Parts: sequence; C-alpha cells; structure tokens
Amino acid sequence: MFTSETYIARRAKLCEKVGTGLMLFVGNVDIACNYKDNTYHFRQDSSFLYLFGLQIAGIAATLDAETGEAVLYMDELTMDDIIWMGPQESVSDQAAKVGVTKVLPKAKLADVISAAKDREIHFVPTYHAETTIRIANLLGKSISEVENGASLKLIKALISMREIKEKCEIDELRKHMAVGRQMHMAAMAMAHEGRTESEIMAMLDRISLMNGQPVSFPTICSVHGETLHNHSYKNTLKKGQLLLVDAGSESPLCYATDHTRTSPVGGKFTNQQREIYQIVLDANNAVAAACEPGLTYREMHLMACRIIAGGLKELGIMKGDMDDAVMEGAHALFMPHGIGHMLGLDVHDMESYNDTLVGYDDETTRSTQFGLSALRLGKRLREGFVVTDEPGIYFIPALIDKWRAEGLFKDFINYDALEQYRSFGGIRLEDDLLITRHGCEILGERIPIEIDDVENEVNKDTYHNK
Ligand code: GLY
Ligand code: MN
Ligand code: MN
Repeated sequence: MFTSETYIARRAKLCEKVGTGLMLFVGNVDIACNYKDNTYHFRQDSSFLYLFGLQIAGIAATLDAETGEAVLYMDELTMDDIIWMGPQESVSDQAAKVGVTKVLPKAKLADVISAAKDREIHFVPTYHAETTIRIANLLGKSISEVENGASLKLIKALISMREIKEKCEIDELRKHMAVGRQMHMAAMAMAHEGRTESEIMAMLDRISLMNGQPVSFPTICSVHGETLHNHSYKNTLKKGQLLLVDAGSESPLCYATDHTRTSPVGGKFTNQQREIYQIVLDANNAVAAACEPGLTYREMHLMACRIIAGGLKELGIMKGDMDDAVMEGAHALFMPHGIGHMLGLDVHDMESYNDTLVGYDDETTRSTQFGLSALRLGKRLREGFVVTDEPGIYFIPALIDKWRAEGLFKDFINYDALEQYRSFGGIRLEDDLLITRHGCEILGERIPIEIDDVENEVNKDTYHNK
C-alpha cells in the first residue's frame, strides 16, 4: 500500500472538493461462485482502494466532507478468523497504515448513517448487487433509488483526482509493466502451429500469478482477433494465422497493465498481413508521437482513423476522400472501437462511475456515430493521464455483409476488393501511455512491435517443449 500520508492527502482533497455532507464508501464483499463459502477471487472496490487502500472484504468507511473525519467499519478478529485464516494484523494497525485512527465495529455503520439522516449522503455508483442492497438497507431506500441516486458531485470530484496519476501510482504502474511485457513475450514465443489458444492463455495467467498477481481482465487470446472481446479459447493455431493477444496483469496495489500484440503463427507474416500490420503500427506510433497535454484524445482517435483509412485506400480497400470518409464514419467498418481509454486502478479506469463522465466534459461531448461513439476518452489530455493507444484493423464478415447489403458508404468502400480479406481476422496493437508535461511516454520497456522484431520473438520458440 502507499504511505498513510498519500491516503490522508487524498481524503482531505476530496473533502475540500465535495464540501458538504457525509460520504459513504462500501467496500466489496466476497462474492459466492456456486455456494456461499466458494467465492470468486476477491477484488476490492477501486474507490475504496484509492481512499482507504485496504484489500479486505466486507468493510466500509465514512468520510465527513465538513469535518474531514474518516471512520473505518471493521470488526476485531475472532479466534475463528485466526483458526481459518491464520494470524492477522489487528484492525487498528491496519487502519493506521492508511492514516485512519477511528475504527468502529461494522454494526455501528447503521447508527452513524441513521444519525446523519438529515444530511446529504454521497455514494458512488454500484456494480455488485450485494453493495446496492447494503446501501439500500443502510439508507432506507429502494434498489432503484440507490441505482439512480449516486452523487454526481462525488463522482466528478473523484474523477478529477483519479485521472491525474500521482508519482506513487506512476511508479507502481511502471514497475508492473515488466510483468505485462513478460506475458506478451511468452505469447509471441508460443505462436506456433499445434499450440492451442487455451494453453497460451493459461501461460499468461501463470506468468501473472507467478508474479503474485491475477490478470487485470479476462485475457483475449485468439486467432479470431476480429471479434473484439473474444473470450473463447477453443482453437488450435495453424501456420499463417494471426494470433491476437490482449492481456494484462494487476499490480500488487491493483493497477492494471493493458497491452495488445498480434503475431504471425509460425513466425512469418504474409505480405497481406504485413501490409495491414504496418498501417496499424503507423497509427499506433503516430498517436504516441503526437500526444501531449492540451490535445483532445478525440483528435488523436480521428488522426489514427485517417491513417488507417489512408492505408486501406492505398491497398484499394477504401476509395475517395479519406478525410470525408472518416468524418462520415466509413472507416468504422474496419475500426469500430475507440483509440483508447484511461488506465489505472481499473483497466477501463473509473468506468464504474460512468464512462462518458470520465472521458468527456462540457467542451468535448460524445458522438453517437458508429465507431466514434465507442471512444471512451475524448476530452483534452492533461499531464498525469495514463491512457491506452490501441488502434486496430478488423475484417468482420457479418458486418461487411450487412453494410454491403445496405449499400452503406459505397463511395468510400470497395466491397469487391474486400473479398480477399474475408478470413483475414484482425490486428490490434496496444501500448500504455503516460501523458507528460510536453508529450508522452510509453510506460515500461516497449514490448516488441516492429514487424521484424515480432517475427524474431515468435521464431525464438522459447516455449517449444513446455
Ligand atoms: N483490454 C480491453 C481493452 O483493451 O480495452
Ligand atoms: Mn487491451
Ligand atoms: Mn485497452
């Protein structure tokens, strides 16, 4: 965990921003998988982690915006806890580590909330039914009142703080990038005929777990990279296919890495694959070269889309004026997602608050156009943002057929030329960028990305007999 001063300073700043009322933070509980005692991996709520740091299930906290008083609601350990879970630090020692001196038993939370019934109670949006029910019971509200009753003031205050990463957060992220890199290097070395997607996915899990940590989101490891969030691992790799791996690891303090690489199964890209790969790489590099505070990420997205459309035009897949094509959204047939999102305690950082509130503001509003609407971060970049840079080109047969049948963008898309790409799959290349004072920095040592370097990694075949 970070120093106690870090958490104390964050809470003080939040109180200043929120100004009035009582803030209620309900930590996550263990969630049952198939019976109560068989639970999923526990992950603390990110708002709770940001302000109170403790990775303990079932605890809660209040923060008085007016007095600044922070209270943790935790029960003293019982002999049963010690018998089943081993010796633990005392509750007060754990609270002291995050700078909290007042600890009350969990049962007292209801009294504290009911004593504050005439005050404004702020809470963040919930995503677990257990938390929603707990808040509803505490506040005497219905489920839908809780679902619709999160505090906009608190959300906006937390976004304004969490979006600017502190030095300790950047250090944590930077350090853990090495694990993400190790995972992707392994995937490249395993991209060989006869391997299965599931064994490569399992190797990525293993590497993350051997570093003491789970993956930061369900790994995408597929020869069908055109399916954007493909979580099936049933294919056996065949020479000549493309293997798209989008994977990351969660750091000890729960910060996510998120990278994508696409490798040629067998170690040699075909000419067709090289051409498409180079376009995606050019878009990725152009974003990393251009990012700086003051530019909007929407501009970066559109720049990447213009590079993609321009490259596809050179190959005869698109035609006409590519500025117009991108403005009208024709390129979204090939890149239906956004250039990136914020990264931090959540892989799509703060998305539980509402991705539009995180990624947009009064100045930059979210488009409803297919493709651009999927851009999660559009607003101006600021020093301290950590964002992903993840352009891609995908050939999605069902989408191509639909657009062709509807006669969409016939002036920009050469549907006949597309036929030779029907079984191409998809390519995405993703790096994690820290926005610095005058530009940006790729976090961690860059995972091999140039065509020759990727081929070399695959050809090392280091996992040959494992
Ligand atoms: N790993 C999901 C994403 O890149 O957005
Ligand atoms: Mn990713
Ligand atoms: Mn991403």
